Amino acid sequence: MQYGYFDDRNREYVITRPDTPLPWINYLGCQDYFGLISNTAGGYSFYRDARMRRITRYRYNNLPPDQGGRYVYVRDNESGAYWSPSGQPTVRNLEEYTCRHGLGYSIIGSTYAGITAHTRYFVPLDENLEIWQMTLVNHRLQRASLSLYSCVEFCLWDAQDDATNFQRNFSIGEVEVEDGVIYHKTEYRERRNHFAWFACSEAVDGFDTQREAFFGPGRGWDRPLMVEQGQSANSIAHGWEPIGSHRVSLRLEPGETRQVLFVLGYHENPADRKFDPPDSQTLDKRTVRPVIARYRNAGAADRAFDCLRKYWNGLLDICQVETPEPHVDRMVNVWNAYQCMATFNLSRSASYYESGIGRGLGFRDSNQDLLGFVHMAPERARARILDLAATQLPSGGAYHQFQPLTKKGNNEVGSGFNDDPHWLILGVAAYLKETGGWGILDEPVPYDSEAGSEEPLYGHLQRSFHYTLERLGPHGLPLIGRADWNDCLNLNCFSETPGQSFQTTTNKDGKVAESVFIAGLFVLAAKEFAEIARRRGCTSEAHQCLEAAARMTESVRKHGWDGAWFVRAYDDFGRKVGSRECDEGQIFIEPQGFCVMAGIGLEDGRARHALDSVRQYLATPHGIMLQQPAYSRYYLHLGEISSYPPGYKENAGIFCHNNPWVMIAEALTGDGDAALDYYLRINPSARETISDVHRNEPYVYAQMIAGRDAPTHGEAKNSWLTGTAAWNYHAVTQWILGIRPDYDGLRIAPVIPGHWEGFWAHRNFRGVSYDIRVHREGPGNRVSLTVDGQPLADNLVPPPANGRAALAVDVRVG
Ligand code: GLC
Ligand code: GLC
Repeated sequence: MQYGYFDDRNREYVITRPDTPLPWINYLGCQDYFGLISNTAGGYSFYRDARMRRITRYRYNNLPPDQGGRYVYVRDNESGAYWSPSGQPTVRNLEEYTCRHGLGYSIIGSTYAGITAHTRYFVPLDENLEIWQMTLVNHRLQRASLSLYSCVEFCLWDAQDDATNFQRNFSIGEVEVEDGVIYHKTEYRERRNHFAWFACSEAVDGFDTQREAFFGPGRGWDRPLMVEQGQSANSIAHGWEPIGSHRVSLRLEPGETRQVLFVLGYHENPADRKFDPPDSQTLDKRTVRPVIARYRNAGAADRAFDCLRKYWNGLLDICQVETPEPHVDRMVNVWNAYQCMATFNLSRSASYYESGIGRGLGFRDSNQDLLGFVHMAPERARARILDLAATQLPSGGAYHQFQPLTKKGNNEVGSGFNDDPHWLILGVAAYLKETGGWGILDEPVPYDSEAGSEEPLYGHLQRSFHYTLERLGPHGLPLIGRADWNDCLNLNCFSETPGQSFQTTTNKDGKVAESVFIAGLFVLAAKEFAEIARRRGCTSEAHQCLEAAARMTESVRKHGWDGAWFVRAYDDFGRKVGSRECDEGQIFIEPQGFCVMAGIGLEDGRARHALDSVRQYLATPHGIMLQQPAYSRYYLHLGEISSYPPGYKENAGIFCHNNPWVMIAEALTGDGDAALDYYLRINPSARETISDVHRNEPYVYAQMIAGRDAPTHGEAKNSWLTGTAAWNYHAVTQWILGIRPDYDGLRIAPVIPGHWEGFWAHRNFRGVSYDIRVHREGPGNRVSLTVDGQPLADNLVPPPANGRAALAVDVRVG
């Protein structure tokens, strides 16, 4: 069952009914001002930091589940009927409803009682404001007399405090209203120099800023008293809950179309120019008035919208493909790339499942996110790498998370996740391959954000590499620390106290439990680092790295192989985890994917064997489960993984983040059919027709799909902000389609399904445009390339020596 369809030409997903199984959301903004918006206009906005600078209020886990948002009520002044064209918060039998989620904008609206009203919501580039551009059409045979009521509920800035500290908050709310513009200025009188404003393109007939005055006692979003009565109280909030609502009266002739704009913005004043006059408590509005004036008309809004479209189209056009598989095309060309930008911008902070008050930026997460967007925003990737590296510790370990506003490591979580350092190597390698910008390695970067401790970025990579060698366990495998990629495999935790953090509680000395996953990650990172070292002329260092990788490979062969698959780990008692010897949790996905990606077992058949075991024990029609059998009870020595009911999250859920590792591994063993088959199992577009089972958005990946042991097998959760986005993008573009940036050029090595006759791709790479046509000539994966008619010796296209800006590449596969 579906709730909409893809409009591929317009790069939009069109939702055709408001009652989607869960709110299906989109993001507004891509620089400093951000918003989340659901298909019924729910959601909130914030400036840069979803916790510290929340502009509008949103209540998570609410009932009704998704209320609070960017609402406009329409009231028919003759009948007194009123409704929300966006389908919420009033619920009516709308005659037609659509929500078009596009790239950085959403258009939501409907027809009711002969009036069509659609609102386009977006954040213009380089501005700290959002525009709600509403178009109304009167389809009646008579003139319509209408009132529009806008409404937002302001958040008192710190979202955490706003949701808890009522004894203070109910007394601090302050607003000003001038020329129909509502200014929210709580705490401006003291230490803040920022405020929010809410304006309308029309002269307003009334307004409200006190929540209770607008809604009336005991009422909610669905029945505001002022809307019901067709009035405004012109209330000024003193304490309690400041809101912003305008009332606009309209007369629409039969067939007439009108636009009305509401604009919500964030503004900062210089600290010494907060008040006008200076000795008053009145906001100095001189710097904000021109901004407000600019966006109060439809022409300016249209122009800003065109710029936004051009911006996104420019980013997406960097990589475009046409394959026999529409689900590949629309995810690669539009939605997966778009989601990668969202994960880059927001890390794991604000979605409908991340409340915006929890995690900062993850060292592991953000480094992996690089894999999906470095080609779209190399300069921003570079800056992110340097920020991440600055939170590395002198030991080579890293703060697990850091705060985007301060860029300092987060002490509450600390470090000791022993996989963390290696993701920096992989992130830097991806940047170098994409850009050839070797200068980044010489950038001075501090440790632990301490001024004076700077060392070239290259030195950080050296410490990342050595971190593992200095922390080997009894089998010569890496000690796991608090956790590796799997945050929930907590082998040193042994927590018996309810509510204790599994990630930060450590009751063991950590000298025994080892991770085969980190071993695979280490080997892959060591090979990358050796290549980087060699190219910097550090030949003996490169040698040492390769030797260390070879020794680690040997340890995996000896102690990390279980007969038919790779072992997952050794626990604190030195017993295997992820082995036939275990009662539960006998086989895990992570080491199968990562060891093969690192090249372990490719020569001796173990790679194939491991992947066959994945197919036999872990694969389901909804994707590949994390492990089997699921843990049926809590195990003190395993930690959070066994805290989840079977089939959910890390306990045998389908963790979409690591499925692509198996896709890449299949491609490495030459099985393009298997790689694409796994890809399609979790591809959201391919799951669109089972939206009633999948339930999350069909245009973006979710972190998790419930596994076979769950009563809701196939149900997705935690959409949008997940490493799944980057890894799937990476797997399909670089390993299945095989268009792979490399240090010396663009490698083209497709491993596609047998029945594909070929595909077309366009890729911009280091300023050159590549037009790539792939034709299958035989059943294998052998590649021969011709560039502008000249045959090449292997599958690497070097940058054109003659300064050409476009190359035509003919690829024969067979
Ligand atoms: C979450 C975390 C990520 C971790 C994964 C597996 O997605 O953000 O860091 O690797 O869970 O536990
Ligand atoms: C929980 C989740 C895991 C996530 C972690 C972040 O343990 O299960 O997916 O990575 O929280 O702290």
